[in-house]
Amino acid sequence: MVIFIVSLSFSSNSARHRYLKLRWSSFDCRVHTDFVSEYKCHVVQPRRSALNVELNLLQELRSIKVYTLISTKPPSGVIYRKLFDNSLDGCRVISQLSQKGITYKIYASVIKSSNQPKICPIKKGFIYYHNISVEEVMPSFVPVSHLMTQVNFYAQNQSYLNVTLKGCVMSN
Ligand SMILES: *[C@@H]1O[C@H](CO)[C@@H](O)[C@H](O)[C@H]1NC(C)=O
Ligand SMILES: *[C@@H]1O[C@H](CO)[C@@H](O)[C@H](O)[C@H]1NC(C)=O
Ligand SMILES: *[C@@H]1O[C@H](CO)[C@@H](O)[C@H](O)[C@H]1NC(C)=O
Repeated sequence: MVIFIVSLSFSSNSARHRYLKLRWSSFDCRVHTDFVSEYKCHVVQPRRSALNVELNLLQELRSIKVYTLISTKPPSGVIYRKLFDNSLDGCRVISQLSQKGITYKIYASVIKSSNQPKICPIKKGFIYYHNISVEEVMPSFVPVSHLMTQVNFYAQNQSYLNVTLKGCVMSN
């Protein structure tokens, strides 16, 4: 899991801040069984704005690449269209937590209740991320709509975790 949603590295516009509500309807994780033996990916009830993730890593993660794709569709629409995508070096993000910027704000909210090490390699064993909530750090220009976030994680050049999250962004 590691660095989840970190990769939403668009710049935030604090001058024009409006509050958005984010409600997740589904959270699906796919793992490679060479890397992860047991896992849980849950939306925290009843508010549905936060996520819990637990993984048992079977191998250490020495290099981490994270690809993020964010798509949206209007409430009445059928097809999701790409809003944003990017790739980043996960090991670099986790070792530079004091940096400013939206990527690091999101990362900080991902690891605030986590036992994830702050440096690579990530050792094998149980790792958790509880109560992940990106509502407070969400950039204000994210459109009010249905949102799909796909995050693919690679370690040592192999895909070990794919995450798909669907939800709604609403203005408050
Ligand atoms: C993740 O998705 C990619 C692209 O669709 C696929 O190639 C890869 O096998 C998937 N990995 C897992 C662990 O399901
Ligand atoms: C989860 O995070 C939210 C928002 O940051 C906070 O209000 C809430 O108290 C947290 N809940 C737990 C159980 O840590
Ligand atoms: C990982 O893949 C990239 C590009 O596909 C390649 O340049 C690199 O040598 C690979 N690294 C390892 C450790 O296999």
